[in-house]
Amino acid sequence: MEKLTILLVGSGGREHALAWKIAQSPLCGRLVAAPGNPGIEEVAELRNVKVTDADALVALAREIGADLVVVGPESALEVGLADKLAEVGIPCFGGSQRAAQLETSKAFTKDFCQRHGLPTAAYGVFEDAASAGAFLDSLDAPFVIKADGLAAGKGVVIAATRAEADAAVVDMLGGRFGSAGARVVIEEFMHGEEASLFALCDGKTALLFGAAQDHKRAYDGDEGPNTGGMGTYSPPPVLTEALIEQAWRELIVPTVEGMAAEGNPYVGVLYAGLMLTPTGPKLVEYNARFGDPECQTLMLRLSSDLVPILLAAAKGELASVAPPTWREEAAICVVLAAEGYPDAPKTGGLIQDADADFGGEAVVFHAGTTRDAEGLLRASGGRVLNVCALGATLHEARDVAYAALGTISLEGGFYRTDIGWRALQPRG
Ligand code: AMP
Ligand code: GLY
Repeated sequence: MEKLTILLVGSGGREHALAWKIAQSPLCGRLVAAPGNPGIEEVAELRNVKVTDADALVALAREIGADLVVVGPESALEVGLADKLAEVGIPCFGGSQRAAQLETSKAFTKDFCQRHGLPTAAYGVFEDAASAGAFLDSLDAPFVIKADGLAAGKGVVIAATRAEADAAVVDMLGGRFGSAGARVVIEEFMHGEEASLFALCDGKTALLFGAAQDHKRAYDGDEGPNTGGMGTYSPPPVLTEALIEQAWRELIVPTVEGMAAEGNPYVGVLYAGLMLTPTGPKLVEYNARFGDPECQTLMLRLSSDLVPILLAAAKGELASVAPPTWREEAAICVVLAAEGYPDAPKTGGLIQDADADFGGEAVVFHAGTTRDAEGLLRASGGRVLNVCALGATLHEARDVAYAALGTISLEGGFYRTDIGWRALQPRG
């Protein structure tokens, strides 16, 4: 097969992991990343184009003669990058603006679930506080209140009391999340452990692409504010084969079929955030992209070539591609974050020894880094580095990752010391 020119869109740890894996493919001739980061630069050419500038990204894809565009973040999908690439005939791994509503609009997704009878929490969508209040009257505490649109992971309030729930509704409808909060979704609270399941889709077919569990809270013991994710591990022992099979049958397959039937064929990653309730897996949310940092652990475990699968998904040919194969080992990813993350991350902190040789099983991905005028590596975002490792067991992977992390320094930085705790504790 002829070598491919690939454009990767994004600049975080997820994209560094994708770049690292794509660059290992014998099919990859040239890899260009926009805008990328200093870690990605080690395996790709960087072009300084914003992920939300769809026209400039299309122009870049044409200029380099891209055979495939791989989209990391949902923000690029939300501005219609995949639609614009389709207009010029460039295969894109990533969904159309309409299909990406499975992530970008919680109301769209809940209504979709209802139309297709998918297992998820009971809900209502409201534009005024009075009708929201009437629905809250029908529920028991705790209450789940969500801004409809994208709110950078912050648009969800789990309210312990009715007073807090009412305040959250007023706050969101009052414009705290801008237009994302013009409508609020109120949900029944689901009890259980959460896990994430990944499917790659080509509009008609879905291919199982692993699972992971992450830690969303900033501090040890799952305390502190919600973040984009402080660490993750794969595979998650809690998500058994039987549960994966059930979620596949009850959620993933009907979603791909339902989206196609409604004229919104779904292409790209379908990332299902699941609640493993006593009555089976239920959908918490869909995302239209790989999880960050879940993707990092999937890339470490993936033993087969990523490129043919992404290309087949982009071209509607997944049914004829060989399914992915995975290493037996467990993978872990620990996030090194900047002081003040997530509320007010301090940028500019000096990073030292991130490019040391950590041996075969540990890999460091860059998430929010930049090089200053002197070439020194500095923090440029809330999540700065992802220290990842493989091990025969999750215990071993964790020990390798934390040993590597112990030799890296970030001025003012912090990380959780308990990534993987749910999977590492004895199960009864
Ligand atoms: P979301 O952005 O929809 O994934 O929500 C963020 C987090 O809030 C989830 O990861 C869950 O921990 C929690 N959550 C959201 N919806 C529910 C629900 N209906 N029941 C219980 N927890 C929920
Ligand atoms: N780590 C959670 C997410 O990517 O949404």
